[in-house]
Amino acid sequence: MRIAVYPGSFDPLTNGHLDIIRRGMRLFDRFLVAVLENEGKSPLFTVAERMDLVRKCTSDIPGTEVHSFSGLLVDFMRTVDASVVVRGIRAISDYEYELQMALMNRELNSEVETIFMLPGVEYTYVSSRLIKEVFRLGGDVARLVPPPVLKSLKARLPVTAGNGA
Ligand code: PNS
Repeated sequence: MRIAVYPGSFDPLTNGHLDIIRRGMRLFDRFLVAVLENEGKSPLFTVAERMDLVRKCTSDIPGTEVHSFSGLLVDFMRTVDASVVVRGIRAISDYEYELQMALMNRELNSEVETIFMLPGVEYTYVSSRLIKEVFRLGGDVARLVPPPVLKSLKARLPVTAGNGA
């Protein structure tokens, strides 16, 4: 049984994340999306809301499971008996941070392997942070997030002309 964990904040899920989930799912028997309970980062959506959005948006991708975790990723991986971490890399600028995390996770547990996957080129500039910023400022992000996420953004943030209202 090949089990992968795809960890992240997913605040909120973007079409770039979804693209990685679809690609990753083809390689593994079980694909666990692991949502970090990062209350310290003051996320826009609670962990339950972020999990619910991932669940709604992946309901058509069999084999995908949605989990949450706090503390060390390697500790969570042990609890689900997984040894592969999947992370998406958009541009070379992501690489340094991802390399540090991958090597730290390997230091903490030498059994853990990190696999980097590339999203479709149309998503290489998409990040949750930019989605929130652009939406807040009235930009249209409808092409960049799944419909349930757009709906939740509209419910959570003031809707301004232009941002998909
Ligand atoms: O979507 P993000 O915010 O880039 O995801 C970062 C994440 C959740 C993968 C990373 O912050 C993480 O694994 N946090 C858990 C704490 C941990 O294990 N830290 C040590 C490894 S660097």
